[in-house]
Amino acid sequence: MSQIPPNQAKIVDSAGHPHCGSAGPVYFVGAGPGDPELITVKGRRLLEAADLIIYAGSLVNPALLEGLKGETVDSNGLSLEETTARIIQALHEGRNVVRLHSGDPSLYGAILEQIKPLEDAGVDVVVVPGVSSLFAAAAALKTQLTLKGVSESLVVTRPAGTTLEEDQVAGLSRHGTTMAVFLGTERLREVLATLERPLDTPVAVVYHASWPDQKIISGTLADIAQKVERAGIRRSAMILVGGVVSRSGFRRSHLYRNR
Ligand SMILES: C[S@@+](CC[C@H](N)C(=O)[O-])C[C@H]1O[C@@H](n2cnc3c(N)ncnc32)[C@H](O)[C@@H]1O
Repeated sequence: MSQIPPNQAKIVDSAGHPHCGSAGPVYFVGAGPGDPELITVKGRRLLEAADLIIYAGSLVNPALLEGLKGETVDSNGLSLEETTARIIQALHEGRNVVRLHSGDPSLYGAILEQIKPLEDAGVDVVVVPGVSSLFAAAAALKTQLTLKGVSESLVVTRPAGTTLEEDQVAGLSRHGTTMAVFLGTERLREVLATLERPLDTPVAVVYHASWPDQKIISGTLADIAQKVERAGIRRSAMILVGGVVSRSGFRRSHLYRNR
């Protein structure tokens, strides 16, 4: 098994924005969607070797952190500057550091704003991908996101909210492709009202995909909001829109054609 490279932290100036010469690496790791078995082998190995794990709040399943030797810190409540400073300080002390993000860090993970100041401070950063909740939601529905004869394309988007002034949901919905809407459950009715699609368009809302309390609510654009409200789901869910949700109307691929 390959070993994690030893830290070579050499902080020379820790005032304000410290520059540490050459330090790290710090590993930005995708935790996966929730099920502790859905982290990559590499991610798990890095977690086990870490002395400090700064994890991204409630969407990281606490079960993933159980039994680890490292100190665990919830980044909720820490500012970007505090997170950066803690990472640099730990590397300076020669500790292995993991920054743990839910799902895959490249989707709504806000990692670049963390990576840039670290790189500016001379820290080497490595990103380890993860299984996005998007894929866990598709797996929960036992469907494909791209399906021959239904939709060959996938739009990944999010509605406007506290951290986004304007969204592109309406315009994107006109393409008629499968849509995966992150961060939309709190404003589900508003999001659905923006979609320019027929009212009988299949929609599924998957809450806590891959967690033990996973819930799948299926319906159409016309009735899904009411069903989701009745189920008491207000957050931490993936909204999937389009024919792929109903698992019907598709054509066979050529992959399994008799030769
Ligand atoms: C800040 S984003 C992080 C997404 C993450 N990077 C990913 O790839 O899954 C948080 C949003 O992802 C979605 N999400 C995260 N984990 C989820 C899960 N286990 N099941 C369903 N949706 C989830 C929800 O829409 C939630 O509001």
